[in-house]
Amino acid sequence: MPRNKEKVNLVFQPSGRQGGVVPGLSILDAARSLGEEMETPCGGLQGCGKCKVRVAHGDYAQWEIESRVEHAGPRQAVEEELLAPEELASGFRLACVAAVQGDMVVHIPDESRRGRQVISKQARVNHFPAKPAIRTYRIDVSPSDLENPMADWERANQAMAAHGDLAGADWDLAALRDLPIALRRGNGRICLDVRMNREVIRARQNDQRRLLGLALDLGSTSMAVYLCDLNSGEIVATASGMNPQCKYGDDVVSRISYHQMNPGGLDEMRKAVVEAVNALADQTLAELNATVTGRDLSREDILDMTLCGNAVMQQIILGIDPEPLGVLPFTPVKRGSISIKARDIGIRINPGASVMVMPMPAGYVGGDIVAALVGQSEAMQDGPSLLVDIGTNGEVVLAHGGRLWCTSCATGPALEGAQISFGMRAAEGAIERVRIDPATLEVDYKVIGHPHWRSQWSTEAIRVRGICGSGIIEATAQLFLSDLIAANGAMRKTSPSKRLVINPQNGMPAFVLAWADETRLGKDLTISQKDVRQIQLAKAALNTGCHYLLQRIENDGTLQSVRIAGSFGAHIDHEMAMVLGMLPAIAAERIANVGNAAGEGCCAALLNTDMRRSCDRLAEEMQYIELTLEPDFAHQLAQATLLPSNK
Ligand code: FES
Repeated sequence: MPRNKEKVNLVFQPSGRQGGVVPGLSILDAARSLGEEMETPCGGLQGCGKCKVRVAHGDYAQWEIESRVEHAGPRQAVEEELLAPEELASGFRLACVAAVQGDMVVHIPDESRRGRQVISKQARVNHFPAKPAIRTYRIDVSPSDLENPMADWERANQAMAAHGDLAGADWDLAALRDLPIALRRGNGRICLDVRMNREVIRARQNDQRRLLGLALDLGSTSMAVYLCDLNSGEIVATASGMNPQCKYGDDVVSRISYHQMNPGGLDEMRKAVVEAVNALADQTLAELNATVTGRDLSREDILDMTLCGNAVMQQIILGIDPEPLGVLPFTPVKRGSISIKARDIGIRINPGASVMVMPMPAGYVGGDIVAALVGQSEAMQDGPSLLVDIGTNGEVVLAHGGRLWCTSCATGPALEGAQISFGMRAAEGAIERVRIDPATLEVDYKVIGHPHWRSQWSTEAIRVRGICGSGIIEATAQLFLSDLIAANGAMRKTSPSKRLVINPQNGMPAFVLAWADETRLGKDLTISQKDVRQIQLAKAALNTGCHYLLQRIENDGTLQSVRIAGSFGAHIDHEMAMVLGMLPAIAAERIANVGNAAGEGCCAALLNTDMRRSCDRLAEEMQYIELTLEPDFAHQLAQATLLPSNK
């Protein structure tokens, strides 16, 4: 490999990525600089223990590298805290802690490599009533001559005055640039694409163009764009992918920390996500152009855009400091919707196009839940109804009698698989469903990427990498139903089943879900007492949030429906969630998964200006309940950790 005296040389295995890096960088930063992707749920803040690597000790002639374990510096106290004794004994290090001090071959184990997340951002509705913000007007502009030498803009405005609606409309610079060419090519017959009858954003020859718009659903983990036909109200193409900011941390708190601790970090994260949006937009155009009807459609034809995400995601993509969202009282930059030019944030669509950014009713009740609500509010009018979006942060809205209350609950990262011994995101190889036979305590499970349950597979074919949020919820509920967990969450310490084991290090019980030979981990995959505690805390937070919202209508009707939004909602087993008491007591048939409601709401707002106005109105009406200010909050939260606790 090419050598550089000022740098040290690294090779990452098994990818084989290699290159020189400046000594002193953490192994994680070195990996990032070479394009190596790793799991970093805490964003490299030395808090999660998931960025495990092993430094090889030996001479590697093929790369001219003498790799030594000492080249990663001495082991730090935080590594002893976060790594298991057997991992320490096997030479594991944490990539965000160990510093590069000499040439190394670094092995990244399977569990630390970033898996491809399962992204389910498909909209269930693909046609919306169209009432777009962009309308096309055809006008005839009188020619200029020596006797009447009026400028192009004045003549165009004169013609526009004939259309009463357009009187006094402004011109975007992009449209002004188009005007001379359009006028001359079209012999004075031109088409103007006008936003809200107030701003001309494109001038073109009198031709038939399809008017397109883009809706962006920007999640902390994954993102999706929906290319829509503004006139027909149809979603014509969709593309989704991971949010590239995941490498700075899985949750919004890690992203805020990355900004605080790295000069230029905000811009780095902003650019990363904007580039990804541009790439997804291109993907949708390519998909559309592959159809017979739309061969020559380009970015120029995307004339409008809407964007929804949590408040931190929205502020980062706008380049607005997200720090105030991370400290009390968690204040967003603006409560109402924001309208900006797409070009100002680097989105490469028509240069005159605007982006409507969803309102943010509170720091932790963001534009995504407003977008989700706008499509659901009608269905939530028959009696008290809850809309729940579950993630690292749970957002809940209660609708009743024309009023709206909302709150956010600190469900924590456990439901996304973080801070769980063998937790991982919902990616290939993760256990997503679990069943335990209460009589034999034998386990059956289903793994993402495989269509059948384990019992229908040959053992060798199953390659378990970890367990994701829905799997952990089911495992905990099943342990409770099998009497292996008491109501207070304590795991039994004795059982005839050999699956119940005692950790020799801490004397705590754990339950084996998958034996070592069924996994890629080289060891048994267990659910520990600590994991159960994490799930209890997460479900208690959600349950408590619902409790305080429902308290607002205590004597005013019973809960009629619970609508679960988001991809997590799509995977969660309602019955198991009820066993744990995650949701308030309600008949299972009154719980509905509403899929990617945020993405659908974002499309609805793109395609219909009435829906757009509704977003602002709903955000204005939402009354935020701060749970920690409730007088008996601590007691209520403690009570809600019991299994089950739904009331
Ligand atoms: S401990 Fe290193 S990324 Fe979390």
